Amino acid sequence: MSQAPFARRLLTVTGLDELGAYRVLRVADPDGPEPEPGQFAMLSALEGWGGGEHERPLLARAFSIARRSGGESHFLLEDVGPGTQRLCELRAGDGLWALGPLGRGFAAPEGGRRAILVGGGVGIAPLAILQDQLEGPTSVLLGFRERSRAQGAALLDGARVASDDGSVGHHGLVTDLLVAELQRDPEAVVYACGPAGMLEGVRAICERGGVPAQLALEAGMACGFGACFGCVVPKRGGGYLRVCVDGPVIDAAELERVDAHAAAPIGDPPA
Ligand SMILES: Cc1cc2nc3c(=O)[nH]c(=O)nc-3n(C[C@H](O)[C@H](O)[C@H](O)COP(=O)(O)OP(=O)(O)OC[C@H]3O[C@@H](n4cnc5c(N)ncnc54)[C@H](O)[C@@H]3O)c2cc1C
Ligand code: FES
Repeated sequence: MSQAPFARRLLTVTGLDELGAYRVLRVADPDGPEPEPGQFAMLSALEGWGGGEHERPLLARAFSIARRSGGESHFLLEDVGPGTQRLCELRAGDGLWALGPLGRGFAAPEGGRRAILVGGGVGIAPLAILQDQLEGPTSVLLGFRERSRAQGAALLDGARVASDDGSVGHHGLVTDLLVAELQRDPEAVVYACGPAGMLEGVRAICERGGVPAQLALEAGMACGFGACFGCVVPKRGGGYLRVCVDGPVIDAAELERVDAHAAAPIGDPPA
């Protein structure tokens, strides 16, 4: 597992590219540790990260490392609130604090099994770096709400797409594509990241079929390194897992189910 240096590092933004409804944030990080697919970083902008007059200070936010290329780290962003909105405003030359890579990533398939990558929405991010590093044939199944988000599929090669509104690809859930794919190859191993409802669908399908699955979870994270217990999810058989250090990639067999409350946000400190 790649370990983060003990302190956050000040990096320089090299660009921000549009990808439909999403943005790809590129950051120069030539000396950073090589991440495992599935690991994440806690990011915050050097400037304008709350804390001004009449502003709440913001905590760093968690983002999957989507790709490493030419000494850059890439992050896929969806603007859903103050932190992601600020990151989506960054321009080349701006400063970005990064702590990472953090957490446990995906493990490579064993025994010559074929990998099926299943992503939903901005959750496709860690599947891109996974696809970059996997050897051998893979299937990529991605689900989006609508057309502008479905443009995110360009982040991966050869993706089959489903959309909720039928504007692109299969009209329905990405889990429909997964069921069909597993009928063709029940010996495959599944790697998934996306919203909790999608992950629960993937978990249940894989459990019924006896298919191994690794799920990259999201949870509200205040620290990102195991100290605050803000990110816990219940473990099968009792007890809890901290998503930031026991995950974010967790073997589906360790979970009874994936609950939406895993994605509850952590409040920023009061102003
Ligand atoms: C391991 C990990 C990897 C992630 N990777 C990415 C990524 O690659 N790209 C990306 O855009 N986002 C990613 N996220 C989610 C991202 O951290 C949140 O969207 C971000 O913190 C929201 O901050 P905000 O200030 O913009 O919005 P906030 O005001 O904090 O939240 C806006 C809305 O998003 C919800 N939300 C906040 N945090 C989370 C969360 N962790 N999970 C689910 N819902 C949340 C809130 O309930 C609220 O409705 C990841 C989260 C985790 C834990
Ligand atoms: S985010 Fe603090 S323990 Fe996981």
